[in-house]
Amino acid sequence: MRRWCFGLLVATVVSGVGPAVAGDPIAGKRVWETNSCPSCHGVDGRPVVPGVPDFSKGDSMIKPDSRLIESIAKGGRIMPAFRGLLKPQQMIDVVVYIRTLRRR
Ligand code: HEC
Repeated sequence: MRRWCFGLLVATVVSGVGPAVAGDPIAGKRVWETNSCPSCHGVDGRPVVPGVPDFSKGDSMIKPDSRLIESIAKGGRIMPAFRGLLKPQQMIDVVVYIRTLRRR
């Protein structure tokens, strides 16, 4: 496991802000890659479809995990809802992974 991944995992587990949400970025990467997320968001978070937030630039990353999880569950105007398709833990993991996509 690369070191920054581990650090992130520990940071996520330890930071006791709000309800304790512990996510695994490695499991999250798998969720990201196997659930069509890259078809709009791009493999590395750079959008391939207009109107998609650019996670590589940190778009949306100011929002708390709970809001991002809600967006994944409910979907948006364009994005499909993933409630029922992803387990709650998978949504937590994928949000932790999305936060690692920021490049600047
Ligand atoms: C069909 C294209 C599409 C797919 C597939 C898709 N998204 Fe999205 N996503 C969007 C768009 C577009 C938005 C902005 C809201 C809207 O207009 O739907 C968005 C918004 C989001 C947000 C909320 C950002 C915010 O500011 O609140 C998150 C988190 C997210 N997507 C994660 C995912 C994850 C994780 C997956 C895969 C499980 C995924 N998306 C699959 C298009 C997509």
